[in-house]
Parts: sequence; structure tokens; C-alpha cells
Amino acid sequence: MITKMRGRDFVSLMDYTGEELITILETGFDFKKMLARRQPHEVLKGKTLGMLFTQPSTRTRISFETGMTQLGGHAQYYTQEGMQLKNKESWEDTGRIISRYIDGLMIRMYDLERYGMARDIVNVIADNATIPVINGLDDKEHPCQVMGDIMTIMEKLGPDWRQKKVVMSWAYSQRIKSPGVPQALLIAASLLGMDLTLAHPEHYALDPEYLEFAGKAYKRSGGKLEVTHDIHEACKGADVIYAKGWGSHSLSREEDQEYREQFKKDWCIDTSHFELANEVAYYMHPLPASRGQEVTDAVIDGPMSIVYDQGENRLHAQKAILSLLL
Ligand code: CP
Repeated sequence: MITKMRGRDFVSLMDYTGEELITILETGFDFKKMLARRQPHEVLKGKTLGMLFTQPSTRTRISFETGMTQLGGHAQYYTQEGMQLKNKESWEDTGRIISRYIDGLMIRMYDLERYGMARDIVNVIADNATIPVINGLDDKEHPCQVMGDIMTIMEKLGPDWRQKKVVMSWAYSQRIKSPGVPQALLIAASLLGMDLTLAHPEHYALDPEYLEFAGKAYKRSGGKLEVTHDIHEACKGADVIYAKGWGSHSLSREEDQEYREQFKKDWCIDTSHFELANEVAYYMHPLPASRGQEVTDAVIDGPMSIVYDQGENRLHAQKAILSLLL
């Protein structure tokens, strides 16, 4: 078991091994049990986490802040507008100076001029900071979300979770969303040896860098990856249907906005998709969901929905990440 991660960044899951991800997941389960048993676990007493948000958040902000409190530390919330970044202080200087005050920095940043620009900035901060930098969703990955998601999959699917059919599907939404979740899930699945089916219409393929990494990782981990453009085919025999919208890497924003309209009907997850799935199958979404677009109320509010368990597991998984890195 690899446990030495102190001081490392958590920007991309590609920087971690499957064994290290298992350490994080097991630590998350430990914290979940300790919280339920009211066992004190103030392992970050006196430590401070900075949280820089350039985009809104409900779950990420609240779960990180609460997590730090439960670990005996403290979290601070920053916006770009409220810092000297507004007056063009550089990302480099920001990374260097805040390292003199705090013990870790979580950043949320996406939707800049081009795909990958937010990741470039996160990397500049990480390269100049001397404290761990944690990705709370950029334009490429949502690694903290996916660690909570895998905890949820392990809990719901049992010991054979790696061999169960998990479908990560594109879903229709008017708003063009980050591919951070599917790309991070693909990397985690490939490192952990999970069977994963990716379903999306043409033009919504994931970043080739992620597909290439996953292809190589799957050869080592022994899992199975399938890719299809047919949502109904994907749902056949599924144990999990995890469906959310994301933006195209091959279309311009304007083209994507118009092109996606044709998928409104088939790519909104409803009970008919679950009729194709296994008798006991689960619906997952990182939230916030576009109800009536990505999913119907009957599904997200139905017995197959585990979206709030997923949301809760963010807290436990992130406490694991914080305790191992800070
Ligand atoms: N899933 C997620 O990251 O939610 P928030 O945008 O509310 O943080």
C-alpha cells in the first residue's frame, strides 16, 4: 500500500497510480466511519486550506470547507475579483506568496478562452507554489468528484465493482459543461481496472490525450473500455448509468450549441433507458443536474438515483486527499 503522498499536487489523476488511488479511497472510507462513530480525527489541526473559485460552486466549496473543519483545520474562500489578481498580479506571484501563509490551495477554474487554458493556469500556480494544489474542477478534469464517485460505485456495486458495467454517457443539456467528470472517470477507471462504457454522439469524443493514457493504463490494469455512439446499446445490461452533458472538442462553441439540439430526446435519461439496464441499476450525476434536459425527474428522484450519496462521498474522499497531501 503506497501511503506517502505528502506535499504532492492533486491536479490530474494521470499523476497517480491505481495503488495510490486505492489508498485515497480506503482512507475516505475510514473517515466516513470515524465521522459516523463520532471518533475525533483532527489530523490537520492548525492547518489552513485556501479555496480559489473563478466559477460558482455549491458542493465543492461546502464539502471542502466542512472537511477542513472536521479535520481540525480551517478553510478560506477567495475569488479572483477579491484578490490582487483583479489588478493583474501574476499567477506566479500569487502562488509564491500564498505558500507563505497557507498549507494547501484548492482551485476551481474553467470556461476560459480556449480548452486547456484553465489547466495551464492551474499548473503555473502549482509550479510556483510550495504547497499542494488541488483541482476542484478545471476544463480537463474533476478528480475530487470522481474519487467520491468511485467510493459510491464501490459501496453500491459490492466487491465485484470492477467487473460491473458502468456507463459514462453524454447527456443533452442546453448549457455547455466541462468534460472534467468523464475525463477524470476514464483515467480512474483505467488505473483501477474497471469496466467502462463511454457513450456519446459523434463530435463528443473525449480529449485524445485522455483516451491515449487510458488505453495504455488499461493494458496494465486489465479492465475493459468500450466506446459507442448508441445510448440504448450502452444501457443494455448496465449496472450504473452515469450521464451528464459536456462540450465538444471538435466543434466551435456556436456549432456545438446548434448541433446538440438534435440529441434532446434520445440523450435525456428517462425510465426507458433503465428498462434496458440490469434489474438493479443506479443513476449517477455529479450535480447540479439540468432536469428535463440531462435527466427526467422520474429518474433523478427515483429509486435508481444515488446522486446524494455521490455528493456526500465528496466530503469523505476529499478529507482523505487533504489528510494525505497536506
Ligand atoms: N459537482 C460539483 O462540483 O458541484 P458544485 O459545482 O456545486 O461544486
